[in-house]
Amino acid sequence: MARVLLVLAASLVALAWPASCQRLPVLAPVTKDLATSLYTLPFHDGANLVLDIAGPLVWFTCQRGNLPAELPCKSPTCRLANAYPVPGCHAPGCGRHWHDDKTCTAYPYNPVTGACAAGNLVHTRFVANATDGRNPVSQVNVRAVAACAPRKLLASLPRGSTGVAGLAGSCLALPAQVASTQKVANKFLLCLPRGGANGDGVAIFGGGPLHFWVDPSDYTQSMDYTPLVAKQGSPAHYISVKSISMDNSRVPVSERALATGGVMLSTRVPHALLRRDVYRPFVDAFVKALAAQAAPGGPVARAVRPVAPFELCYDAQTLGNTRFGYWVPSVTLALDGGRGWRMPGVNSMVDVEPGTACLAFVEMKGVKAGDGRAPAVIVGGLQMENIVLEFDMEKKRLGMRTMPYYMQCSHFNFTRSA
Ligand SMILES: *[C@@H]1O[C@H](CO)[C@@H](O)[C@H](O)[C@H]1NC(C)=O
Ligand SMILES: *[C@@H]1O[C@H](CO)[C@@H](O)[C@H](O)[C@H]1NC(C)=O
Repeated sequence: MARVLLVLAASLVALAWPASCQRLPVLAPVTKDLATSLYTLPFHDGANLVLDIAGPLVWFTCQRGNLPAELPCKSPTCRLANAYPVPGCHAPGCGRHWHDDKTCTAYPYNPVTGACAAGNLVHTRFVANATDGRNPVSQVNVRAVAACAPRKLLASLPRGSTGVAGLAGSCLALPAQVASTQKVANKFLLCLPRGGANGDGVAIFGGGPLHFWVDPSDYTQSMDYTPLVAKQGSPAHYISVKSISMDNSRVPVSERALATGGVMLSTRVPHALLRRDVYRPFVDAFVKALAAQAAPGGPVARAVRPVAPFELCYDAQTLGNTRFGYWVPSVTLALDGGRGWRMPGVNSMVDVEPGTACLAFVEMKGVKAGDGRAPAVIVGGLQMENIVLEFDMEKKRLGMRTMPYYMQCSHFNFTRSA
């Protein structure tokens, strides 16, 4: 009898142990700022940080007088903070007396203006909610390190934001820091909102599950995956694109051209940027495919005077509507791994003024055709909205799942469960 009880007790412990010990992923609402088309999340004490999925660090303007403890210059953490020097930005790390130097200097930079500054690396906390994937569960204070920056580094960032949360693949980006202090996987889910009255999207550090209130299924199941590719010297997330299609016809851009410089994902640009050698064939293919889709005798999309920075703009009345935005040729990136990233009108067209909609793929400025120092394609915020993306730095892959037309990233339930 005693033996049976012991076995029973042992199995109860075994059952209870993983559940009570398991650390939950960390949740944050993601807000789109309509003035800048940038996305922010609350970090702590009312500080909102701009999401930069290509950023290697967390940084904010520190309050004078309550500077948290600093990190010594010779610490490994200080080396990690300087692992990705920004060109033209970086001064040597430790001073001449580096053995005695008690403060680590990092070089935070503004992803929109490209400006950078020197700032101390300090201890801080990311105050958020743990989540079971359906609701917030309880508050967590996640220890982290961040760089302090002067106020002038906030230029061009959304009003009310005080810094940047880098979500790149580096050790001091927010996902890796949450992973190491919270003991969760080094991956994050991102569902970017369209903004305005639609409400907040969601980011979850540590991975799934992810449920929304309209549809009870777990959005991290049955995702399409493609490898995340590292590019030498860059902490950003790249994917490998084999070809681009406009509806069913292939845009005449070679796989080699796309591999030259690669395809980068970025939340610092509101819409996609294409290098000139990709851009010209791309817009030509769009014009052709748009003309080809018009039904005989039906309405024809009427081009109107372009609104900068866009080149192809249309009278919105002459574009058909679908549940996935304007009825325009869909853009598909054929990904390594065999899947396609299909972008219907909702991810390819932007309303620039009442009655005018433009193709939200823009030519990169100041870059020559074929120059591999620049990405061939930078996929921007609009292209990633209302899709569940899973950036997995451990498995080095990007998971994606598009939402049905009646679902939005703002359908996460931010009410704490009782
Ligand atoms: C945690 O979630 C609750 C319920 O939604 C919310 O009121 C609170 O502000 C959240 N806390 C943080 C730190 O985000
Ligand atoms: C959101 O979650 C709360 C707590 O579990 C629940 O009471 C509420 O019904 C949910 N809201 C929706 C719209 O599902």
